[in-house]
Amino acid sequence: MRVVKEAARFEYTRLSGPAGETDDGGDVIAGLSGAQKTLPCRYFYDDRGSALFEKICELDEYYPSRTERGILERAAPEIARLTGPSELVELGSGNAQKTRLLLDAHAQRSHPLRFLPIDVSEGMLKASARELLSLYEDLHIQGFSGTYEQAFAALPPRSSASRMLMFLGGTIGNFDARERDVFLESATSAMAPGEYFLIGADLHKDKDILEAAYNDSQGVTAEFNLNMLRHLNRRFGANFVLDRFAHHAFYNIDRHWIEMHLRSLGDQSVVFKDLGFEVTFKAEETIRTEISGKFDLAALTAEFAAKGWEKVAAWTDDRGWFAVVLFRLRPDRIVTGQ
Ligand code: AVI
Repeated sequence: MRVVKEAARFEYTRLSGPAGETDDGGDVIAGLSGAQKTLPCRYFYDDRGSALFEKICELDEYYPSRTERGILERAAPEIARLTGPSELVELGSGNAQKTRLLLDAHAQRSHPLRFLPIDVSEGMLKASARELLSLYEDLHIQGFSGTYEQAFAALPPRSSASRMLMFLGGTIGNFDARERDVFLESATSAMAPGEYFLIGADLHKDKDILEAAYNDSQGVTAEFNLNMLRHLNRRFGANFVLDRFAHHAFYNIDRHWIEMHLRSLGDQSVVFKDLGFEVTFKAEETIRTEISGKFDLAALTAEFAAKGWEKVAAWTDDRGWFAVVLFRLRPDRIVTGQ
């Protein structure tokens, strides 16, 4: 772990490699060794991948980001009122554009401003911190570059009476049910009874709308998907040839999730020099690089309730496409990991 102080109001801690890697590549080898090959979706987010994701958020077809933003524009003042002064801990903070709506709402109420962003992309973390510091005179930022689990373990003592964990953008959908359970367990252990959790979740909707969002006409999502291979080439000395794979995304109605794959355009093998690992692909075989779950709000609320989180309020857009939910950890919850 390395702590770097850049200015009096900005401190960040590097918890892992430049894109959150565990460094040994064990997760890559395990994922590529199964019957359905998979790769962890966090390998999307090197600095280039994070920039491509920002571009995705501006696409006409990609409704989640814009829809969530619209909801937060309306709900942020009420969220700040409901939570009172609380420091914001944001998972996967990215460019922190939506965070500004909450910082504004807290500033309006003269609450102290403290922000603890956590992101695998160190470049994105620093750039967004600098921008926020230039906008808010009294803001203090303590950032962490690393995985969520690493960051939960490294969070400093509270400087405010309360803390609100934020997990926006529908990123909770990038976990399968088991991963979500593990994630919720560790997030819950990092919080104190009476504290808050703000979640953005994408909801069930027509297959056509969903598939268009992950197969945009400009090919940005395809570029984002393929960029994972470029990242692995650099990171682990692999020799993926990008134009021998193609982007493939579809809605799996039974699982209520989008699946993103990279489809091999022929028989081929790829060597990971730094890992001493080789993998072969048959023509048409795919690597699943991401799932993106779409939720039923009542079912998601029940999952949170099972971990001790009670719903305080929920907001959706007019079309009911996306939800922002504010949970509070029940004061009577037995604390296990504080
Ligand atoms: C970050 N996450 C919520 C995005 C999603 O929609 O699942 C990542 C993404 N993948 C393709 N487009 C956007």
